[in-house]
Amino acid sequence: MRTVSIHASRPYEVRIGSGLLPDLGAQLRELFAAPRSVMVVSDDTVSALYGPAAECSLRDADFRPQRFVFPHGERSKTLLTYAALQQTLLSAGFTRSDLIVALGGGVVGDLAGFAAATYQRGIPYVQVPTTLLAAVDSSVGGKTAVDLPGGKNQVGAFCQPALVLCDPGLLHSLPPQEYQNGCAEIVKYAMLSGEPLYSLLLSEPVSRQPEPVIAACVEIKRDFVQADERDTGRRRLLNFGHTVGHAIESCSGYAVSHGPAVAIGMAVLTRAACHRGICPPETLSALERLLAAYGLPTHTDYSAQAIARAALSDKKRRGDALPIILPEALGRCRVETIPARDFVSWLRDGGLS
Ligand code: NAD
Ligand code: GLY
Repeated sequence: MRTVSIHASRPYEVRIGSGLLPDLGAQLRELFAAPRSVMVVSDDTVSALYGPAAECSLRDADFRPQRFVFPHGERSKTLLTYAALQQTLLSAGFTRSDLIVALGGGVVGDLAGFAAATYQRGIPYVQVPTTLLAAVDSSVGGKTAVDLPGGKNQVGAFCQPALVLCDPGLLHSLPPQEYQNGCAEIVKYAMLSGEPLYSLLLSEPVSRQPEPVIAACVEIKRDFVQADERDTGRRRLLNFGHTVGHAIESCSGYAVSHGPAVAIGMAVLTRAACHRGICPPETLSALERLLAAYGLPTHTDYSAQAIARAALSDKKRRGDALPIILPEALGRCRVETIPARDFVSWLRDGGLS
């Protein structure tokens, strides 16, 4: 087992090891005395696959597990599901000395985390990520939220988990497209940090070495979170590729999934940075090599105008200024705030028509 300690406003450990799920109860007993009630929050797919093992392990450690299950997918990450979870906690008599376990991908983690942040003004929660994206990104760092009809993650809170228990064995059942979504985030970490992650990713596919890769990504994310927990400065670098990526997802009506969209976003902005002399051509080649190794795309047919329109309608954007993340070299990126009206020309420099 590998352990990464996160020294955020609330310190906690990320424990990574194949076969950890059956040990969930015992791991929690190190932090929480039993008996106490535990609400295991999952979507229907994950619940069917791993709910019984999680509950069995909790029961063996003298916890009282209950399950809250909702239909899988982003469409469930709503105030409605959140309210149903809150009501379930209340009806089941949960108090602040009880516990929530988020067993699932980023949707489950974000929703369960937000419920934990707010139920009775805050109860502890534990992340058990079951997607590669959740393992390397969403389970760590304490961003919790639900969506509004007008925008993603519009209602939420910063709330760090008490523990992240990551069992890469659970990723075997992940559909290839979901795996690829995680790989795009991993490529992003390699661009932000450079070596040794860059070479590690080229040496063998992530699927053959999930533990060291997940640990490396969590360590990189730890450094951003510790430096800027509330996401007002350095942590924004973690959005590399995401402004364009979200716009591509939106233009395609979500037919292009998150990973490929972010991959194209990173490629577009790296080409633009290269074109403007911000990074050398070797940085672009390094990114393209990694994206090719993971079967991720670098081009889209959407026009610069269409992407800019979608990106600039993002509800989280304020005023006329748009922060974009640009690579200066492999392992070094910067935030540059540009006038929103200039975005189209950056996208054209990035190869869009
Ligand atoms: P997800 O949670 O919807 O999971 C993707 C799909 O995989 C779902 O259908 C799920 O049922 C299925 N699945 C999950 N684990 C499985 C397994 N082990 N085997 C088989 N199927 C499995 O999506 P995601 O990509 O994990 O997360 C995306 C969400 O994360 C978005 O809502 C995004 O906003 C959020 N996010 C949050 C942060 C953060 O810092 N909080 C960071 C990145 C993304
Ligand atoms: N996923 C971006 C962040 O946690 O800040």
